[in-house]
Parts: sequence; structure tokens; C-alpha cells
Amino acid sequence: MANVNFRPIADHVGVEALDIDLNAIDDAGFDTLRRAVADHGVLFVRDQQLSPEQHIALARRWGGIDVNKYFPANGGHPEIAEVRKSETQTTNIGGGWHTDHSYDQVPAMGSILIARETPPTGGDTLFASMGAAFDSLSDGLKQTLRGLRAVHSADHIYSTNGIYAQTDQAADLKGHDIRTRAVHPVALRHPQTGRELLYVNPGFTLHFEGWTREESLPLLTYLFEVGKRPEFQCRLQWAPGSVAIWDNRSTWHYAMNDYHGHRRLMHRITLSGEPLE
Ligand code: SIN
Repeated sequence: MANVNFRPIADHVGVEALDIDLNAIDDAGFDTLRRAVADHGVLFVRDQQLSPEQHIALARRWGGIDVNKYFPANGGHPEIAEVRKSETQTTNIGGGWHTDHSYDQVPAMGSILIARETPPTGGDTLFASMGAAFDSLSDGLKQTLRGLRAVHSADHIYSTNGIYAQTDQAADLKGHDIRTRAVHPVALRHPQTGRELLYVNPGFTLHFEGWTREESLPLLTYLFEVGKRPEFQCRLQWAPGSVAIWDNRSTWHYAMNDYHGHRRLMHRITLSGEPLE
């Protein structure tokens, strides 16, 4: 089983594993998938038959689970966050570049997202490589970033006055009173591959530590523009049963909101990470 066939999705990020069954993967195959996620940022697998219990079992095999505090949980499974948009909603969850849970003191390693219901067209997810983004910077800027740390929070997104409170997602979300603040290195070494990564994101990074927001914005805006370059991206097209497993340290993602009038339901489990240095 260790001989998994892979197909690259784009130059810098994304790989698809072909002809595998995530319920039947042996330990050697599992190690191969783990390595693929570390090396390519996001692993895509189509046509899987994973029940919620099997989804949780797969995540536990990966490591710990970080329960999301904001999204609705799936039925009796607090570990599974529902990312959903109904026929009548016009806003979606994740419709901006971000990396999950960077506002936590120990940010999530990754996520396992399963498509349950998909619109007839659209609803793709874009991923961007933060290794490629960092590599593209000048040596001078890389050196400057190595000396910086950045402050991350989710309060401006999920609190009572946050971005979602103004939208038709508000009724689905919870945790408005939670306060978050974490400080992380801006240039990160991936714990498994050793690759240097850009670890700021448009969703949750507020400013550099010791700098005001006003002072930080010009450089942050520049870094965000670099991270969004199309050549650093890949695009996943979902069907029910598609699974993506990604690394939140080395990628950003963006859920397209281009399917108004149709339902989309995804089940996400967030995988625990390790302290960042
Ligand atoms: C997310 O932002 O984690 C959800 C992505 C998606 O729904 O495609």
C-alpha cells in the first residue's frame, strides 16, 4: 500500500492520491500520505465513503483534534465542524484567504475536509503555497521577516461586532464572546520538512509584534499580495465524497462563493499542531 499513485495538481501546491480507500489504508500507506501533505501542502482524494465516525478515526490516526469553537457541530460529533451555505444564504464561511486557527497559541497542524453536498457548479477551494511565497522574496526581506513576530486574532471575525455578525452566516455561528490573541514567528520552519514558510495570513494576522497596525499594514499588504499570486495556487473541484487533507502552516485557503441558490455542506476536522518556533 506504500506505493500510492500521486498526480500533482499544480506547480507549487496540491497533489491528488489516486485509487485509494482512506478506510483501508495501512500504516505504510498512511505514512506516505502524511509525507505527501507535508511536501505538497494539500492532498486531495476523490470518491471516499467516510462516515462521520470514520472521519474522526482518520483524524485521530493523524494526531489530536482541535474542536472548532465557532462553527456548528455535526449532530452528535463535536469534533466535526460543519462548513455550510444554504440555498438562501449569500455569504459563505472561509470566503477569504486564511489559514485555520492561526489565532490559537498552538495553531492547528491541518484540517481534513470532506464534501457532503456540493453545488452543481462552483464552490471550489483555492490553496496557496506559503513556501513558494517565502522563496520568492528577496534575501533582504527574508532576513527582515526572520526577525519579526506577528499578532493573530479571530475576534474581528467572530465577535459580536465582527465581520460575520453583519452577514447571513451570523445565526449559524457561536463563540461571540471568545477572545483570542496569539503571537507567532512570521518566517516559520516547517517542523517536518524544514522548509521556510511565510506565516501571516489575511484572515487572522493583525500586525507585527511591537508595531502598530498602521505601521504594519504596508508590509502585511505586500506579503498578502505575494501570497495570493496565482502561480502559487491550486484549485480543488469538489464532489460528494471528495476529501482534502492540508497543512495549515504551509498553505492558505479560500472557499469560492460563486454558487448562490445552491447548498454546499462540508465536514471539517481540525488537526492539532505543535508549538511554532
Ligand atoms: C475552510 O475555510 O476551512 C472551509 C473551506 C471550504 O469550505 O472549502
